[in-house]
Amino acid sequence: PHRIPLVAGNWKMNFDHLEATYFVQKLAWSLRDVRFDYKRCEVALMPSFTSLRSVQVLVEADRLNITYGAQAVSVTAQGAFTGDVSADMLASLGCSYVIVGHSERRKYHPEDDANIVDQVRAVLAADMQPILCVGESFEERRQGIELDFAVGQVHDVTRDLSEAEAARLIVAYEPVWAIGTGMVATPETAQDAAKAIRDDLRKSFNASVADSVRILYGGSVTSKNASQLISEPDVDGFLVGGASLDVDELATIARLA
Ligand code: G3H
Repeated sequence: PHRIPLVAGNWKMNFDHLEATYFVQKLAWSLRDVRFDYKRCEVALMPSFTSLRSVQVLVEADRLNITYGAQAVSVTAQGAFTGDVSADMLASLGCSYVIVGHSERRKYHPEDDANIVDQVRAVLAADMQPILCVGESFEERRQGIELDFAVGQVHDVTRDLSEAEAARLIVAYEPVWAIGTGMVATPETAQDAAKAIRDDLRKSFNASVADSVRILYGGSVTSKNASQLISEPDVDGFLVGGASLDVDELATIARLA
């Protein structure tokens, strides 16, 4: 199965729109300098809502091959929901992706499984792709139930999806203990989780869905550990946090992927 690797930079709550503009320009130059082959690896950025329009303008004006998306979305189409942003609003800004269910959102916002399913549906309905984040905490790993836990989190979402919807999902396996800690998962750990998730997709749907869904690894990815992780057969790229704030780091990770 041929899956184009995806390197997605999740900036979290960093960079205002001027910093975002500057970053995108520097990244595009840096990738052009190394004659980066965007057909071999996709590079995506997930800025704050406030930077999306600037990124869109730049990408369109300079015809950059960089894709982008948002970090969260409302489950509702429109109405009296102060502070929320709808999927259609994001789609109209040219977003290809929306991160759904990141552990930081699950922790700091009332995002339960039902809400996450609704976000996934909203993103798909607006013709974007959800990047569904799952992953165990240290406690589940200690109990030895990490694979069941991560697979269960994916399953909770996919059991409500049609085959066509599931095929457009992207999954990011991000063990909570590895996020922002410098404690990267071993390639084996990342592979075991990605394979378990893919096996479950094969069981729930079919081989073509399982083979088309890209499964990313996230959690303390840097230019130092990226090439080992990506050499695993079921790891199709990365959701990069801290290292995505550094142009050289992100460009190097994309080259290694
Ligand atoms: O979305 C990205 C993950 O939370 C990973 O963050 O690379 O800073 O560990 P990190």
